[in-house]
Amino acid sequence: MAKNFIYLLLLLSLNSFSNPNKKALENMNGCYACHSVKVKIIGPSFIEISKKYKNQSASRNDLVKKIRDGGSGNWGSIPMIAHPNISEEDLSFMVDWILSLK
Ligand code: HEC
Repeated sequence: MAKNFIYLLLLLSLNSFSNPNKKALENMNGCYACHSVKVKIIGPSFIEISKKYKNQSASRNDLVKKIRDGGSGNWGSIPMIAHPNISEEDLSFMVDWILSLK
């Protein structure tokens, strides 16, 4: 058990050293309180989001705006909280990452 935990830490730290967008990914930690990649929690799963918007060219900017400003209505009445302190660059990276999921 403890051994597995150490492996996990090692894996996570290797991942962040080699990733140029480490900061964007760190900013995503809070997202996982309401989202997961595959399963709906409070918000839709990132894969569902990707499927819904993949083929719409206008949606990229809308999603950046939605993460920054928060809001509801596209998936139901539960609102997503605003994230005013995330940089445009990190927001773009997150949206690209979400839309790249299959
Ligand atoms: C407090 C819970 C909560 C947190 C934290 C949260 N979300 Fe959401 N998110 C939601 C809900 C609820 C929705 C559905 C909103 C709607 O119906 O329009 C949503 C929707 C979305 C959408 C789709 C937007 C749309 O208009 O279809 C994206 C993209 C998204 N979230 C990304 C993120 C990212 C990235 C983060 C972290 C920076 C994050 N969320 C953090 C609850 C949350």
